[in-house]
Amino acid sequence: MSKKITFDYWQHLYSNRTENMFSSEIRDLLSLSARPDIISFAGGLPEVRALSFQKLERYIKRILKADGDISLQYGGSDGYYPLRTKLIEVMKLEGLDVVEEDIITTTGGQQALDLLAKVFINTGDTIIVESPAYTGALNSFKSYEAKIIEIPVDDNGINILILEERLKELEKKKIQVKFIYLVPNFSNPSGITLSLLRRKKILELAKKYRTIILEDNPYGMLRYEGKSLPTIKELDTKGDNQNVIYLSTLSKLLAPGLRIGWIVAPHPILEKIMLGVQSTILCVSAFTQRIAYEYFSDPSWYENIDRFISIYSRRRDVMIKTLEDTFPKSASWSKPKGGFFIWLKLPEYLNTKEILADAVRNKVAYVPGSGFYADDRGLSEARLAFCTENTERIEKGIKILSRIVKEKIKLYKSFK
Ligand SMILES: Cc1ncc(COP(=O)(O)O)c(C=O)c1O
Repeated sequence: MSKKITFDYWQHLYSNRTENMFSSEIRDLLSLSARPDIISFAGGLPEVRALSFQKLERYIKRILKADGDISLQYGGSDGYYPLRTKLIEVMKLEGLDVVEEDIITTTGGQQALDLLAKVFINTGDTIIVESPAYTGALNSFKSYEAKIIEIPVDDNGINILILEERLKELEKKKIQVKFIYLVPNFSNPSGITLSLLRRKKILELAKKYRTIILEDNPYGMLRYEGKSLPTIKELDTKGDNQNVIYLSTLSKLLAPGLRIGWIVAPHPILEKIMLGVQSTILCVSAFTQRIAYEYFSDPSWYENIDRFISIYSRRRDVMIKTLEDTFPKSASWSKPKGGFFIWLKLPEYLNTKEILADAVRNKVAYVPGSGFYADDRGLSEARLAFCTENTERIEKGIKILSRIVKEKIKLYKSFK
């Protein structure tokens, strides 16, 4: 929507829920960063041009020829079964061992998050999130009027000592935490990976406090260095009750335009989620699920992952090198081993929302940090996506940002 609304005639009709629905700064910026003259570090847009469009065209033709009537019909609300068999193969590469009946497909990871919020959150319920957290998850949880408790992350992921303390306090007050949300691999937005020790500990805590972990893992296969770690879901083998709900998406492994995500959960929970699917979208697109099925039936799909890894790791390296070469010493940033994002911290007296105006005037965009907190913290922080632009433009864009930041620091110091 481009037109600015000044007076809303329908205000008396809206549900209270809409007061908790905020425009995502990322989505607003996406429209801006789509302009070719802007060097965009804003949205985490995958490099879909690395895919073979000829092959995709062949898959689509094959689907229409062999299966046209069914593929254009409604499908089951648990998802296209053959695709679920392929998702099992994908998850095996991440060390997960599940069966088709453990999975339900969704319209992207975003709908998976929204369905889980719908299933678990009553107004005022308490949930815990890593902080900073993925803005799409925060927005969804807020729209169901959750009370969000934020636990800070450090270089090894969510701070376990603070998490344990909060869980203890909440138990004392007889408050049940509905779930703990985190992105353990190359998190959006921080780029940070949760250590193995903490994965084990957080699972222990979830069991102790009888809560669930929502393990959101869109980036796990996009690792550029180091050894992969087991998912928390994989570690959850002891005891009768499973405490982990695993969710992921094909947006980063294939293409966001297909809008396919999935959830792996204990069966009673899947039943509830399925009711959620039926009352919201009826079913995920039968057509795009078939495209994804064809894609993963071609063994060459894994070569594309290698291609993505080679492209993104080069872009990450150039962004980090240019930050190191040009940014002032008072700034710091995460050094992700995979995924799409670098988390930038500027001196506290700088405001990344204000700096963004200057940046955009100079044709560079990023996402200010405050959108990744439930309150308005993170004012001097920002998320830089390195996945979208080529290396020349990354170098150019970071140099421009560096110049602007240095000017702001100089200005601040001159007034002190
Ligand atoms: C951590 C995380 N979860 C979920 C999503 C939603 O992905 P999708 O495009 O599948 O809706 C994203 C997208 O960027 C993400 O980074």
